[in-house]
Amino acid sequence: MTFPMNQPTDPDSKDTEHLPPVGCSEEGLSEQAKALATRLGAPWLGVVSPRHIDDCPAILWLDDNGLCLQATGRKAPGPVRAEFVAGKAGYRLAHGGGTGQLIARAVGLKRTHQTLHILDATAGLGQDAFVLAGLGHRVTMLERSPVIHALLEDGLARAAGDETTAPVVARMALIHADSISWLQQRAGQEPVADVIHLDPMFPHRDKSAAVKKEMQLFRPIVGDDPDAADLLAAALDCARYRVVVKRSRRAPAIPGPAPALKLDGKSSRYDVYPLRALPSD
Ligand SMILES: C[S@@+](CC[C@H](N)C(=O)[O-])C[C@H]1O[C@@H](n2cnc3c(N)ncnc32)[C@H](O)[C@@H]1O
Repeated sequence: MTFPMNQPTDPDSKDTEHLPPVGCSEEGLSEQAKALATRLGAPWLGVVSPRHIDDCPAILWLDDNGLCLQATGRKAPGPVRAEFVAGKAGYRLAHGGGTGQLIARAVGLKRTHQTLHILDATAGLGQDAFVLAGLGHRVTMLERSPVIHALLEDGLARAAGDETTAPVVARMALIHADSISWLQQRAGQEPVADVIHLDPMFPHRDKSAAVKKEMQLFRPIVGDDPDAADLLAAALDCARYRVVVKRSRRAPAIPGPAPALKLDGKSSRYDVYPLRALPSD
């Protein structure tokens, strides 16, 4: 699966970055969608139906529901977007497991009552960051892919317009940058955050339908994050209390120092790299 190569707007983008063309569902959305195509340096398709496109595998498509990455062709699965209001994230915010859930235990939220500043250095579609912000913490998100960054930016803007999610996304800030260089520039200064959360891509073979749909579209865009070891090293130089790494259950730890603690969940695992104790009150 390949997209036209074009990456003039992202100084930090990886060699594997590919930009899908941009289109929209109706004339009234053209101006906004075209501005995005220009910003990304991606081809502009105008008003199109992804079902009727057969010369590229996926497009960035703006419709009434927001911006999505949409596979093309008649049998294409549904869109992939950053969604916080509806779906899994909205449900989890309303009924989620509090500080007992795996990500919260990994970050150490059971050990402290303080509000933390968490840096999510691999923001993706913002689901993990949203869980942490939903628990009351301040989250700064870094994402290097201009395509994923655009999807996340759109999801955050829609969530800011919803009364349930607005207070949560108000605690979330998004930066378009490569975390490795961003962190390296700040090493040796004040810690950039209390906890750094990492969830780099890993070339695993999860065959569940949901993972398949998202990953089929995601992987050609972001690649396999082969520089995860550099990211872990940079994070360890910049966190105040700990670095936590999400892995799929059977994936090896990121090469580098061994994690002091491994927390297993149903489908994923957290490797925890403590630096100093979290404040107890
Ligand atoms: C598996 S996804 C993260 C999913 C995310 N945890 C969520 O809940 O939606 C990994 C993301 O990290 C991004 N990424 C990987 N290495 C990065 C780096 N060095 N700097 C910034 N973003 C990075 C990739 O572009 C990709 O979007």
